[in-house]
Amino acid sequence: MEASMPKRKEPGKSLRIKVISMGNAEVGKSCIIKRYCEKRFVSKYLATIGIDYGVTKVQVRDREIKVNIFDMAGHPFFYEGTAQLCCLIVVWRITPVTSEPQVRNEFYKDTQGVILVYDVGQKESFDALDAWLVEMKQDLGPHGNMENIVFVVCANKIDCAKHRCVDESEGRLWAESKGFLYFETSAQTGEGISEMFQTFYLNILDVCEHGGKRPATNSNASFTKEQADTIRRIRNSKDSWDMLGIKPGASRELLGRSFQSQEEQQRGSHSPCRHSTTTPAQDASVRHHLTQQ
Ligand code: GTP
Ligand code: MG
Repeated sequence: MEASMPKRKEPGKSLRIKVISMGNAEVGKSCIIKRYCEKRFVSKYLATIGIDYGVTKVQVRDREIKVNIFDMAGHPFFYEGTAQLCCLIVVWRITPVTSEPQVRNEFYKDTQGVILVYDVGQKESFDALDAWLVEMKQDLGPHGNMENIVFVVCANKIDCAKHRCVDESEGRLWAESKGFLYFETSAQTGEGISEMFQTFYLNILDVCEHGGKRPATNSNASFTKEQADTIRRIRNSKDSWDMLGIKPGASRELLGRSFQSQEEQQRGSHSPCRHSTTTPAQDASVRHHLTQQ
């Protein structure tokens, strides 16, 4: 798409996009795609070998979109040597490659959308999201631009509520502080899947219709990175003293200064997580200490 394109697109004009799925093994990447494309769920685990490639057509607004989906294996085995071979097999079908290091660059190149998946019952799969982004950035090389790629984070397997260990606020915070879309999904029940894909494709279409650049008004992120860091630090504090960054028994003056700086930081962060950072007993312990001084 060129920046000089007319605002109103020709109805029905088809668009071709490339979408890839990323995330640890067994988080449900293939099942999410299968649920959307084939409206079914397979409970037996069939690990993706290398990369599965498929093409699907979707109608978004007045445009028909041809989607090339590259569903990646999450198992590390495919990223240590063997991966290069697997990528080679897939990429070879699209464009001939001449030498190994180019293979992965070619693979990530020209991606319009990434579906980043983690399992809400597996903390490691959530923690691994950063490493997936680093891998993609590295493979795209110094000239690769991830700014205009639409990322959607799927917090998957929400049907397994009993095993859940990554709550919604934590996942949403991570995603939105990076400007990514966030959806709670279950490939098993289908919850959130259509909504996720619809919003994902709409966002990709917006980018394509803005000359391949993310429209300025497109960001619905609730948090800046700084705000997210502050919220994360507060959430991880073990008690109110820790939250204020002071030692138990600190002087009234030190406490006052700390409260003041916390308030200044939080004024900008409109944190929805503030209420859940400490227990009433911990807050009472600081208040009690203050009244004693
Ligand atoms: P790799 O291909 O190895 O990277 O795994 P993957 O991320 O593609 O996982 P896959 O879709 O193959 O699903 C792994 C296992 O999780 C399978 O047994 C699925 O049936 C199961 N699964 C996937 N999504 C869900 C879900 O939303 N809920 C539940 N309960 N199970 C799911
Ligand atoms: Mg798979």
